[in-house]
Amino acid sequence: MSQKEIVVVAEKRELDSNINMYSNELDFSSREITEYILASLEKLNYKTACYETPKQFLEHISRHRNSIVFTNQWGGYHSRNKRSLLAAVCEAYQLTYIGADAYVQALCQDKYLTKSYLKDYLFSIPKAVQASCVKELDDWEKITYYPCIIKPNDEGCSVGISSSSIVSDFQAAKRAGTELLKHYQPVLAEEFIQGREISVCCAGTADHIDIAEAVELYIDGKPLDKNIWGYETKIVDSVSVSKKAVTDEIPVWIIREGKRLFSSLGKVDFMRIDGRLYKDKFYVIELSPDCSLHPSCFMATAFYNAGYTYTQMLERLISYEC
Ligand SMILES: Nc1ncnc2c1ncn2[C@@H]1O[C@H](COP(=O)(O)OP(=O)(O)O)[C@@H](O)[C@H]1O
Ligand SMILES: [Mg+2]
Repeated sequence: MSQKEIVVVAEKRELDSNINMYSNELDFSSREITEYILASLEKLNYKTACYETPKQFLEHISRHRNSIVFTNQWGGYHSRNKRSLLAAVCEAYQLTYIGADAYVQALCQDKYLTKSYLKDYLFSIPKAVQASCVKELDDWEKITYYPCIIKPNDEGCSVGISSSSIVSDFQAAKRAGTELLKHYQPVLAEEFIQGREISVCCAGTADHIDIAEAVELYIDGKPLDKNIWGYETKIVDSVSVSKKAVTDEIPVWIIREGKRLFSSLGKVDFMRIDGRLYKDKFYVIELSPDCSLHPSCFMATAFYNAGYTYTQMLERLISYEC
């Protein structure tokens, strides 16, 4: 019986009626998933501890010199540094942890910066411009690639992204950018890519990848096309969302490039490469080393397709601790 302790730093969020598409809380870990992870770890006979913020964890860090820390489930309020905090703390205190290191988290949190990293791969990259303040929105007059989607550069869980984020001309882009800048900075005007929404889910070490599966998103049983997985679909509408492994249905080069990218990044442990497949091109929308571990999420679906159960997935992730 293992007596090792796992520390999970993650919120236990419950949504109330004050929520809107700009709410930071959308990016927090929910009570349901945090408690599900803790219960699953306990089933595996691990001792567990849970803190809802990195600050709380730091206040008790001396108790956890020999623990393994789950660093990637905490959401946190808007900050371009938030994803890197826990990995950096663990590295500074020489604690073993599960999740991408601070460098990978910072790179992937910044969607604009991620595009530079992706240039060495065969993936397609949607065109984009950034703006950090309203004055910079005037430069968007030069945009030639409509429709485009106006979205936060550094957020997750579709915070600030709804069907009204898709715009067809400069005036609409400027209006959407002005509104979004009140809540999040910087913002992106990114080329809108229609097509199937597919994530290449990888797990392993840089030297040995255990999982590399393509998982597709379906809304009401249908693949995405000109629609998005935004605020309405995630929170408001009563639609049914499902995921299915489609590794055998997509060109093999996409998985091969995904594995090459995953290995190049160093300590990642697990990450989704989120994209849209249109004709023969795979456009990468973002890299998600902060991905969900909900039992019906993309990553779990990838593990199930490779023959793992949910708890076996957690065991495998824990084996990447370093
Ligand atoms: N450039 C784009 N083209 C098409 N759809 C997009 C694009 N950017 C975002 N989306 C849609 O919006 C959703 C959320 O956008 P994303 O950039 O992944 O933000 P988040 O980090 O909040 O998940 C995606 O899952 C996708 O459906
Ligand atoms: Mg996303």
